[in-house]
Amino acid sequence: VAFSTETVYGLGANALDEQAVLSIYEVKGRPGDNPLIVHLAHTGLIPTVVADIPPMAVPLIERFMPGPLTLVMRRAPSIASAVSAGLDTVAVRCPSHPVAQAFLSMAGVPVAAPSANLSGRPSPTQVRHVLEDMEGKIPFVIDGGACEVGLESTVLDVTGDVPVLLRPGAVTADQIREACGLIPRVAKGTGQGPVRSPGMKYRHYAPRATVLVGIGRSLAARARHTAELVQEEVAAGRSVGVFASSKAILLIKEMQKAAPNENWPVRLVSYGELDDSVQASARLFDAFRTLDASGVDRIVVQSLPEKGMGAAYMNRVRKASAQKTGE
Ligand code: TXA
Ligand code: MG
Repeated sequence: VAFSTETVYGLGANALDEQAVLSIYEVKGRPGDNPLIVHLAHTGLIPTVVADIPPMAVPLIERFMPGPLTLVMRRAPSIASAVSAGLDTVAVRCPSHPVAQAFLSMAGVPVAAPSANLSGRPSPTQVRHVLEDMEGKIPFVIDGGACEVGLESTVLDVTGDVPVLLRPGAVTADQIREACGLIPRVAKGTGQGPVRSPGMKYRHYAPRATVLVGIGRSLAARARHTAELVQEEVAAGRSVGVFASSKAILLIKEMQKAAPNENWPVRLVSYGELDDSVQASARLFDAFRTLDASGVDRIVVQSLPEKGMGAAYMNRVRKASAQKTGE
């Protein structure tokens, strides 16, 4: 069953049933060594799926759960081993979305759920995205509307001496530090050594089109560079999809007016105000899907400062833009 959460849509199955969990991997085309998150109706159930709750996790649970935070802890034996892909830990999350909470309470079991996209596609943030990837493959989707956050939860490993940030999300590193008094270590993406979060070694959020990023020091410079990239690509004879601030979109429209006789194969999607990383995050995956489906050669995305939600936004933008060069 696919269901809406405040972050992205999940594809859920009974986490106590090995066969049900294996069917998730099959439907998604997900590698068997990339573990799933266990979703619970409320935080009171956490002790039923983990071996112990480390002290540093207590203030984090109190402050950010339910919500867009996933904690990696030692797993309890009741959880199907396929959920954890052979690791001795389990990732646990309590969504705040009322539809997710209703679904999880009715299910009456912990629900293992990755994002409800096909492996390698952007996570679904609307029911339409789930249908694009899953229609005919799964029996049900619970429509809870568009996801408010739009990026996947923050994943934090709390099994060691300090918390380790495995995936940035709406709960930021600063907020984690404030809540538990420890500075989270940021896990390296796909470096050497043992893989802490198996998901990090896979290419995610990968549109078919090559993704270029408009960068700069100031917000205005980022908008300008975004427009310049569009102009260069058009001049090179390529079609371009754009995801940028309304300011950058305005600059691009002015360029088009200045060259009225030229072919201008550009599709524009605005995220709103220059500095609005919350809206930009909420709309990013839909923009990737929409622009990619339109068949453009390039997608040009405006960068944002890596503060607050901007850190999670830039993490996803970087992954999408790295895919073609294999970075
Ligand atoms: O917002 C979200 O977290 C969404 C919604 C549906 O809850 N779920 C989601 O699941 O994004 P998924 O499977 O797409 O991403 C889960 C991430 C993967 O990078 C995976 O490797 C990591 O969490 N993960 C899961 N279990 C882990 C574990 N035991 N240790 C380390 N990383 C783990
Ligand atoms: Mg996913």
